[in-house]
Amino acid sequence: MSTSASAATAQPARSDDAVVVVSDLHKSFGDVEVLKGIDLSIRRGEVVCVIGPSGSGKSTLLRCVNLLEQPTKGSIHVDGEDITDPDCDIDDVRSRLGMVFQQFNLFPHLTALGNCMLAQTQVLGRSRREARETAQRNLDRVGLGERGDAHPAQLSGGQQQRVAIARALSMDPELMLFDEPTSALDPELVGDVLSVMRLLAKEGMTMMVVTHEMAFARDVADRVIFMDGGVIVEEGDPHQVIGNPREDRTRTFLQRVLDPTHVDPGSVDAHYAELHRTNPAGIAPAELGAPQRGDVGGPASPGPDVR
Ligand SMILES: Nc1ncnc2c1ncn2[C@@H]1O[C@H](COP(=O)(O)OP(=O)(O)OP(=O)(O)O)[C@@H](O)[C@H]1O
Ligand SMILES: [Mg+2]
Repeated sequence: MSTSASAATAQPARSDDAVVVVSDLHKSFGDVEVLKGIDLSIRRGEVVCVIGPSGSGKSTLLRCVNLLEQPTKGSIHVDGEDITDPDCDIDDVRSRLGMVFQQFNLFPHLTALGNCMLAQTQVLGRSRREARETAQRNLDRVGLGERGDAHPAQLSGGQQQRVAIARALSMDPELMLFDEPTSALDPELVGDVLSVMRLLAKEGMTMMVVTHEMAFARDVADRVIFMDGGVIVEEGDPHQVIGNPREDRTRTFLQRVLDPTHVDPGSVDAHYAELHRTNPAGIAPAELGAPQRGDVGGPASPGPDVR
């Protein structure tokens, strides 16, 4: 948490022990190397936001951290345990890492409570009663305590995403991984989800968040990481990385996200094509980093302008 966001409340104690240590992580799909040597460490209670253009490898990095993708090279330690070791119990690791995706992936035939209970009983072996109590507590936490009996189809996108967060929290994870949790939402529903995430950060939850919400990253993150082309180009204090980036690539990205009219599209296409060996003519605007629904907009200014 940055001081500005946390000044009003007492902060939980944060120690320096690392929950996740990623060392020289490489990931290839076929002969295309998508992650080209990532080194990253996240301390307990730290909130790290990952930003970067489409295709830079942000989702692949998150998916490697919870072993939805198998790294090609390198190691990932969670709580000191090497999860890339073939002897490691993947289910045990995943139960310690809550993951929230862009699409909520709720079971349509289960209620909100049922969705939050399922993995507790099946993976953690909790009794239905304990699972129900934990699920209810976490639905309360995300502001949906009264909607436990609702099915996903009866909930808005923002509410469904909050149920997905409650479901992840119900596993008592040590780390929450978020992959663009608000980018599929209508703009008016983004705020509620971000509020829940701000609350979790205040409570001291360790979080790794891929996001295009620059105002959220600036206000809530302890650290911002900018990725491009499968490497970490720049990382540091959110106000520095977002407000006054050191690297040209970061600056170009931020100008594009915050003010798409600022950019010469041809140069972006060429850069993207060079990185990803794609045909510039076939690239959709969204892939080029045009603002997604819910992005912070802002006029061009000497530095990236985040409201
Ligand atoms: N399962 C896969 N098979 C082949 N290529 C893949 C696979 N998953 C990802 N890629 C490729 O890896 C690259 C990085 O993808 P990734 O989804 O990690 O990017 P991203 O930074 O999350 O992008 P976005 O902002 O669009 O979500 C892309 O070029 C993508 O096409
Ligand atoms: Mg992604």
